[in-house]
Amino acid sequence: MMATTFLWALIMFMLLPWPYARVRQGNLYGHMTILGNPITIKGSEFASTRAIYICNHTSPLDIFLIMWQTPIGTVGIAKKEIIWYPLFGQLYVLANHLRIDRSNSTAAVESVREAARAVIKNNLSLIIFPEGTRSQSGRLLPFKKGFVHLALQTGLPIVPMVNSLRVRPAPLTVEFLSPIKTDGWDPTRINEYVEMVHALYSRHLPSSQRPGSAEDR
Ligand SMILES: *[C@@H]1O[C@H](CO)[C@@H](O)[C@H](O)[C@H]1NC(C)=O
Ligand SMILES: *[C@@H]1O[C@H](CO)[C@@H](O)[C@H](O)[C@H]1NC(C)=O
Ligand SMILES: *[C@@H]1O[C@H](CO)[C@@H](O)[C@H](O)[C@H]1NC(C)=O
Repeated sequence: MMATTFLWALIMFMLLPWPYARVRQGNLYGHMTILGNPITIKGSEFASTRAIYICNHTSPLDIFLIMWQTPIGTVGIAKKEIIWYPLFGQLYVLANHLRIDRSNSTAAVESVREAARAVIKNNLSLIIFPEGTRSQSGRLLPFKKGFVHLALQTGLPIVPMVNSLRVRPAPLTVEFLSPIKTDGWDPTRINEYVEMVHALYSRHLPSSQRPGSAEDR
C-alpha cells in the first residue's frame, strides 16, 4: 500500500501539467486498490453513467473510498479546508479534486458555479457529501443545497450511493440507487428537491442511522 501510494504520487507529479488526467489516474488507482477487497456492489448498472453521486459522510477517509467506487472521470467536491487534513488533504489537491469556498455566500455561490463549469467542460461526474459535514451521531444529517444547485447547473442526474462501510463483520456493501432525473427541474423549487432526495436516502438506511430526534442534529 505504501509503495503503490508512493508510485501513484510520483505519477501524479509527472502529470502536473494535465489536471484532468490526474483526476482519472486517481480514480484508476482507487479502482485497483479496492479490487482485492470484499466489497459487494449493488446497482452497479447505475454507476456507469455521468451523474452527481451523493453519499453520506462519516469520516474524512470516506471521500477516498467513495471516489474509488464511482466511475473513472469522477471528481470530488469538498470544502477548501480539506487541504489541511494530513496527507489525505494533500493527495486530494494533488489529484485535482474540486474545493469550494464556504467562507461567505458570495464565495460559495461562485465556487459552485466554477465547479459546475469544470464538470461540463471536462465531461466529468461529481461525488458530493450533501450533509456537508460529518455526522457525529451516525444518523443522517439534513442535506445542504449545493448538490441541487450543481444538478440545476449541469443537468446531470443524481445517483444516491448508500455505503455500509462500518457494518462488520459483514462484507462492505455499496448500493447505487437508480438515477433521479434533474433536467426538467425548476430552480424555484430547490428546497423541495433537497427534502425529496433526503427522504429517499433516509429510506435506504437502517433505522439506527435514519435522522433521529432533534438533539441528534
Ligand atoms: C453511510 O451510512 C451507512 C449506513 O447507514 C453507514 O454504515 C456508513 O458508514 C455511512 N457511510 C458513509 C460513507 O458515511
Ligand atoms: C467573500 O470571500 C471571498 C474569498 O475569501 C473574498 O474575496 C470576499 O471579499 C468575501 N466577500 C464578503 C462580502 O465578505
Ligand atoms: C463523456 O463521458 C461519457 C461517460 O463517462 C462518455 O460515454 C462520453 O463518450 C464522453 N464524451 C466525450 C465528448 O468525451
